[in-house]
Amino acid sequence: MPNLVVILGSGYTGRYLAGALTEESRRFAATSREPDRNLAHFPSDQRIRFDLTHPETWPNVPQEVDLLWCFPAAPIELVRRFAATANLSSCRVVVLGSTSAYNVIESQQYPPPWIDETAPIDQVKPRVQGEEFLRMTCGAIVLRVAGIYGPGRNPLDWIRSGRVGPSRKYVNLIHVEDLAAICLAALEQGRSGEVYNVSDGTPRTWEEVCRKAHELWHVISLPRTSADDSGKRVDTGKLTKELGVRIQHPDLYRALEQVKDQL
Ligand SMILES: NC(=O)c1ccc[n+]([C@@H]2O[C@H](COP(=O)([O-])OP(=O)(O)OC[C@H]3O[C@@H](n4cnc5c(N)ncnc54)[C@H](OP(=O)(O)O)[C@@H]3O)[C@@H](O)[C@H]2O)c1
Repeated sequence: MPNLVVILGSGYTGRYLAGALTEESRRFAATSREPDRNLAHFPSDQRIRFDLTHPETWPNVPQEVDLLWCFPAAPIELVRRFAATANLSSCRVVVLGSTSAYNVIESQQYPPPWIDETAPIDQVKPRVQGEEFLRMTCGAIVLRVAGIYGPGRNPLDWIRSGRVGPSRKYVNLIHVEDLAAICLAALEQGRSGEVYNVSDGTPRTWEEVCRKAHELWHVISLPRTSADDSGKRVDTGKLTKELGVRIQHPDLYRALEQVKDQL
């Protein structure tokens, strides 16, 4: 029988992982720091209280499970101690990292260069230290994930609120349903100790997204207040080749049309 899957830190992505695991009839449990409040939608035997900053909760996570780590793996000292306690080296572990790990050297090149998994990372960032420890010491598979959007996390709202505006900066996005499917593909087929970039494969400028948002939904962008850098263009060739992933939401604007009516 396949191992129990534990969603370690079940927030936004965790919800969709639970849906995808249910569809695949995989046994799973999810953790929360406040399971009775945040995981009330799961049966009680699928809820685990776990808080990385409270070692007394660590034994609640069963051993020899498949683990989907869905919150920043920091600070390193706690990550190290938890990995030893939970014997993570004997588990399949997928860690959701971020494309912000890439340490983009300011370049005059525009559009910015494509970034694959061999690009330099910022080892000063606490979460990057945790991810690299889990990858190199426990054989975890690290996903470097682009901006997550989906129902209730709508880039059109980010434009309306002025959190982003029409700039030449490149943005890489991934629909949360695609991310959930990719996490499961990584669990099944990912190579231990490897890194995979995760996005829908099409970097876009915020200028383009804002223009389309105005054309299609009359969304008004707020004027930009500060100069932006050029962003990144994330290469997802390895994801497609090695994990055989087919993105279900490659067309951002079609996906946004659906997302705008979903909660
Ligand atoms: N949002 C993005 O655009 C984006 C982009 C790239 C990468 N990522 C990364 O992808 C991962 C998933 O993102 P998400 O947006 O789904 O995250 P999320 O909604 O914040 O869910 C993570 C959950 O983990 C739990 N958690 C947080 N700190 C914890 C700790 N110290 N110990 C135990 N549990 C803890 C929290 O649940 P409880 O409060 O119930 O404990 C939280 O809701 C995160 O690592 C995130 O940084 C996000």
